[in-house]
Amino acid sequence: MTTRARGGAAGFLGDIADQALAAEGVQRIEWAAREMPVMAHIRRRFAEQQPLRGTRVAACLHVTSETANLVLALRDGGAEVRLAASNPLSTQDAVAAALAIKYGIPTFAIKGESTARYHQHLERVLEHGPQITMDDGADVVALLHRSRRDLLPGIAGGTEETTTGVVRLRALARQGKLAYPIVAVNEANTKHLFDNRYGTGQSTLDGITRATNILLAGKTFVVCGYGWCGRGVATRARGLGAQVVVTEVQPLPALEAVMDGFRVMPVVEAAAIGDIFVTVTGDVNVLDTPAFAVMKSGAILANSGHFDAEINLPALAALSESKRQLRPFVEEYRLADGRALVVLAEGRLVNLGAAEGHPASVMDMSFANQALCAEYIVAEHSRLAPGVYDVPRHIDDEIARLKLAAMGVTIDTLTADQERYLSSWELGTA
Ligand code: ADE
Repeated sequence: MTTRARGGAAGFLGDIADQALAAEGVQRIEWAAREMPVMAHIRRRFAEQQPLRGTRVAACLHVTSETANLVLALRDGGAEVRLAASNPLSTQDAVAAALAIKYGIPTFAIKGESTARYHQHLERVLEHGPQITMDDGADVVALLHRSRRDLLPGIAGGTEETTTGVVRLRALARQGKLAYPIVAVNEANTKHLFDNRYGTGQSTLDGITRATNILLAGKTFVVCGYGWCGRGVATRARGLGAQVVVTEVQPLPALEAVMDGFRVMPVVEAAAIGDIFVTVTGDVNVLDTPAFAVMKSGAILANSGHFDAEINLPALAALSESKRQLRPFVEEYRLADGRALVVLAEGRLVNLGAAEGHPASVMDMSFANQALCAEYIVAEHSRLAPGVYDVPRHIDDEIARLKLAAMGVTIDTLTADQERYLSSWELGTA
């Protein structure tokens, strides 16, 4: 059931799949909160201090139970948040319903929405004239710079969650066209070292196993791309007993993959031996016709990069005589030569399409960065020229400190002697 309401009978604003799911959504949001102690800490402080009082935020993020906890912290800090999905397939409909109905957050997100509706939803989060944008993939920034330039003067700053979005923003900035300052949350150590590596590692394997229920032990598992996401996926696949092959285009990460114990080879060679393929490069057409031409029948193809451009599905369709759905999020392409290739989650993010995205414990740190960077923008925007900024070091360090404390882990501090030693050049060979 699709419900659209604009302050209607139910008194909510948004476009969600099913109002009846709201109670389930609340439970899911509260379950995630148990693993998000850093966000809980920030939320309590925000409620007291109101650092975002009256700030209009347009958020375009995956609508999950973890995102809901971020949105509620922003709201408690005084922000007026509107939320749209950052991917047509990643929305958790129960969470969207809870946000719109139980928490009064205008939410525009339906799992499986068409591309046209996805874009309509982006327009809707701009309707209140945002002062802060919060993006995951830079689609809101792109929309503002293409067709809603009228809103740019009112925007103080923004944040960007993911590698792909940061790449797009840097391209916009290189052309001198980026109109406001944006903090690249992805670049924080407490973001990419944990979310991209352990989050993508676990959730990608989760998506593949939920969709297919295949045994990974003994399979040849090909990971395309050895950035932080690729490292996480490769390590977790090895942990489940797969023989892992890595493909790369850059020499340094390729060398690291070799020394981390993985086989490294060109994608077309890997294509001939792989049972399962995962793309995590952030680039287009990583798996393309030359690879499809040599893949084994039954090979499984999945993507965990931000956009659904890494597996060339139009090229695969052109090689195919038919396509059929075998299970939810599992489609078989039957090729003219009789082979079958299996694509998961329509080539979209398999971890969010076929599973629930990263576990709450890592999103706790990613979203703590989002919340604290929103606070930073409100306080500092008048001193920031348009451009792409790193997360301030003190925010990154504070999040690591809070997370360790929440985990009950204590660490040592330097003695006065050690401090002196580290700041001297005189001390050397004794
Ligand atoms: N990106 C990856 N996993 C996510 C999650 N659980 N919530 C929001 N964004 C995500």
